[in-house]
Amino acid sequence: MSDFPDTAARLIRAIDDWPEAGVTFRDITPLLADPQGLAATVSALVEAAKAFGPLDVVAGVEARGFLLAPLIAEALGIGLVPVRKAGKLPARTLSESYSLEYGDAIVEIHADAVPEGARVLIVDDVLATGGTLAAAGRLFERAGAVVAGNLVLIELPALGGRAVLGDVPLTALLEY
Ligand code: PRP
Repeated sequence: MSDFPDTAARLIRAIDDWPEAGVTFRDITPLLADPQGLAATVSALVEAAKAFGPLDVVAGVEARGFLLAPLIAEALGIGLVPVRKAGKLPARTLSESYSLEYGDAIVEIHADAVPEGARVLIVDDVLATGGTLAAAGRLFERAGAVVAGNLVLIELPALGGRAVLGDVPLTALLEY
């Protein structure tokens, strides 16, 4: 939606030195809390999602991807799959680990979360180093799905995540 960049610039809040010294956190909660901000965000995300071509599933990455992915899936009339942190899903899972600054983290999906060949759009709030989205993509490939692309609200280009995602298309609505 054409008013999204201005609305986002007005409502996304920069928090210095969070979660640790030297990091500026981009807080999207004021954007989502504002009715016009929410509407503009959903419109922009849905428009961007449609540009990935036919989709069967929208996947949201825990935790803030959960705030965005359902809105897109419902608008497109397709299903929603959560990508969860380790140990949260009740049935048989696939797991992928990825590196954090200190140690590793794990994301999981249910092994039967998507039909064979399903085209999946993976959604998160932020692309930083790319480890999270790359791990999520590996999960869906192992499940037999096709990762049609990644969609994020915010890309932090200085952290190089786009290169980590390789040939998988990425759309970011904003860069900081
Ligand atoms: C943040 C963010 C993305 C991820 C991006 O989540 O919401 O999911 O990091 O970083 P990357 O591109 O370097 O992998 P976080 O891991 O803080 O988890 P949370 O949403 O559960 O707080």
